[in-house]
Amino acid sequence: MEMIDDAVINIENLVKKFGKFTAVNNISFKVRKGEVFGFLGANGAGKTTAIRMICGLLEPTSGDIQVSGISVKKSPEKVKQKIGYMSQKFSLYTDLSPERNMDFFGDIYGVAKDEIKKKKSFLAQQLDVPSLKSIKTADLPMGFKQRLGLACALLHDPDIIFLDEPTSGVDPLGRREFWEEIYRLSGMDKTIMVTTHFMDEAEYCDTIAIMNFGRVIDIASPDSIKKKYSSANLNDAFIRAIEMDRKKMEDN
Ligand SMILES: Nc1ncnc2c1ncn2[C@@H]1O[C@H](COP(=O)(O)OP(=O)(O)OP(=O)(O)O)[C@@H](O)[C@H]1O
Ligand SMILES: [Mg+2]
Repeated sequence: MEMIDDAVINIENLVKKFGKFTAVNNISFKVRKGEVFGFLGANGAGKTTAIRMICGLLEPTSGDIQVSGISVKKSPEKVKQKIGYMSQKFSLYTDLSPERNMDFFGDIYGVAKDEIKKKKSFLAQQLDVPSLKSIKTADLPMGFKQRLGLACALLHDPDIIFLDEPTSGVDPLGRREFWEEIYRLSGMDKTIMVTTHFMDEAEYCDTIAIMNFGRVIDIASPDSIKKKYSSANLNDAFIRAIEMDRKKMEDN
């Protein structure tokens, strides 16, 4: 009998090879509905590659991905309606105003005009600016750019949100505000998968997965990870986890 659980993302034996190089090396895990799932790992560990496969933007070499019970391989378009993706590389039109960017991405997802309008004024209110019409997106402060990126990823009201390093280059205040928004979304039962190199942010996650050289070497709550590596904070625990894994690889 199929086990019933509340997993909204289910990854099994996912592999991605670029030529002879294995960027994602047989990873398996589940993400529960409503959870804030942190994806950690050194540069090049394979986080972005994994996320792009889960979002149906990159074809896996092998393995299975189910999002909301839908196979990404069989129905990528169905999955795309359920997810919002904010890429690591800023992907909005920097020459256009924030409002025009929202119009553009709203159109792509077939969002109703009045809904887009509502979301524009919500963002303006959140950022405490009178209008997002008369400025070029390029000229926004970094923290505002990222919030605009998030607003665009949320236009079609997705259940599952992928945020790839949403706060890199954002100041501490902006990072806190960004995380308040993540919490607000989580409180609305949205599932969030977020990558970060900031361990204070990882601390806010319900579950964290640590990747190293394409593999998931640990997956647990921040508290359990700290306990496991006898560390007072996640920064030390993270470094220990990576060092121990590297040592294990050298020994083999
Ligand atoms: N299209 C590609 N062709 C060849 N190699 C690639 C390609 N995309 C990614 N890689 C390689 O795969 C590995 C994993 O990259 P990825 O971007 O997934 O890492 P990451 O964990 O997101 O790193 P970062 O923290 O720097 O964002 C890297 O060695 C990268 O150079
Ligand atoms: Mg990345």
